Amino acid sequence: STESTVTITVVGASGDLAKKKIFPALFALYYEGCLPKHFTVFGYARSKMTDEELRNMISATLTCRIDQRENCGDKMDKFLQRCFYHSGQYNSEVCFGQLSKKLEEHEAGRLANRLFYLSIPPDIFVDVARCASHSATSLRGWTRVIVEKPFGRDSQSSAELTRGLKQHLKEEQIYRIDHYLGKELVENLSVLRFSNLVFEPLWSRQYIRNVQLIFSEDFGTEGRGGYFDSYGIIRDIMQNHLLQILALFAMEPPVSLDAEDIRNEKVKVLRSMRVISSEDVVVGQYKSHTRGGIKYPGYTEDKTVPNNSLTPTFAAAALFIDNARWDGVPFLMKAGKALHTKRAEIRVQFRHVPGNLYKRNFGSDLDLATNELVIRVQPDEAIYLKINNKVPGLGMRLDRSNLHLHYAARYDREIPDAYERLILDAIEGERRLFIRSDELDAAWALFTPLLNELESNKVAPEFYPYGSRGPVGAYYLAAKYNVRWGDANSELTTV
Ligand code: BG6
Repeated sequence: STESTVTITVVGASGDLAKKKIFPALFALYYEGCLPKHFTVFGYARSKMTDEELRNMISATLTCRIDQRENCGDKMDKFLQRCFYHSGQYNSEVCFGQLSKKLEEHEAGRLANRLFYLSIPPDIFVDVARCASHSATSLRGWTRVIVEKPFGRDSQSSAELTRGLKQHLKEEQIYRIDHYLGKELVENLSVLRFSNLVFEPLWSRQYIRNVQLIFSEDFGTEGRGGYFDSYGIIRDIMQNHLLQILALFAMEPPVSLDAEDIRNEKVKVLRSMRVISSEDVVVGQYKSHTRGGIKYPGYTEDKTVPNNSLTPTFAAAALFIDNARWDGVPFLMKAGKALHTKRAEIRVQFRHVPGNLYKRNFGSDLDLATNELVIRVQPDEAIYLKINNKVPGLGMRLDRSNLHLHYAARYDREIPDAYERLILDAIEGERRLFIRSDELDAAWALFTPLLNELESNKVAPEFYPYGSRGPVGAYYLAAKYNVRWGDANSELTTV
């Protein structure tokens, strides 16, 4: 038969990521009819488990979106019937050979495509890549491997990992996930820029004063301290998620929407960036705080974190792109855990209106605000533009109002999880949203000297209370470049 099948093997099937994100995303894709007709899901891990036990484990994590309530239970059952389990070691070609036999049974002589999702710690990526490639590669169809960060912890270890993977896989078989690229508003960035005449012409140093990339979470590293402590917030959020958004925001228009064209532009802009100087960085760590009778634990109170850990749970940084478009424009990043709010957004602050006609005519008390464009990636997706507007009436008074696109009000549908889009793209061979290895190298090159310096100088993070706005140093850093954080003013954020 020339019909094709796809099998998706989740390596590390009992891990957190698999349970929280991968299986639910696969089910959502199945529900939407996005998976090929002949598909099979395999869980692979060391522990012994029957197919039935895997199904029970998965079914506990599946939910239906509001717009997917119809026949939900029925669809879940059907999906679970397509899920199987194989237990084996991560470094055993024999075990992967046994898995391959099982995959073949399900492929039933059809053209067989195989996707491996490595939902496992990075120190066994290369082992699994070796075993999968030697013993479970599809002989008739493609074989692809999804990996997710951490991709090393600096330039050198990242390059080593890439070398290791490339001993067994070709670059085009490797799908490096940065799940922020699967988020709806991040994907929309290019649409906003390149399909609206009113934005792209303003997208340069001529009109933009500064750009802010802000990530905050209102919870700490609870339960993940072990992983987090050897990485820290700069590696966990900035070097990947925020930098990826920055690259899409700032890149030149690509030749086409093809993956290679887009990724070429991203690499170009990353390589035009100045290596980050430690003088342009502030690091912080949350300490315990009692509010409303509840004590929120400090970072080092986590059992899996050493008492004297200097790992930053907060960082702010000023970055610069030394090219013609962005010369001198500060790109400010801020990322932190255990802050007062959960939010990810991009803020674009525009320059003052030259000449300032209104201020001249109506007195100096009329403080004209500058325009600001906010792209709220999450929660409650929105894009809004702050403009000056005349307050209706006979007098002449201006105020600040928003032109506002609020997704929940505008679109009557739930936004798919980032993992759904990314897994579907990997199945379809669409590489646009995955990180190419030269892109990864360029990203590490920007951060590695800083990370080395922080570690070798044992730079002590500035403490901030759990649930606060983070260390005050972030405000001084912004002030050094004449910037005020857009999210500092609460009036501006409640839209
Ligand atoms: C992950 C980080 O990449 O992203 C986590 O390792 C972080 O520390 C998470 O919590 C945030 O993702 P999201 O999609 O919940 O914003």
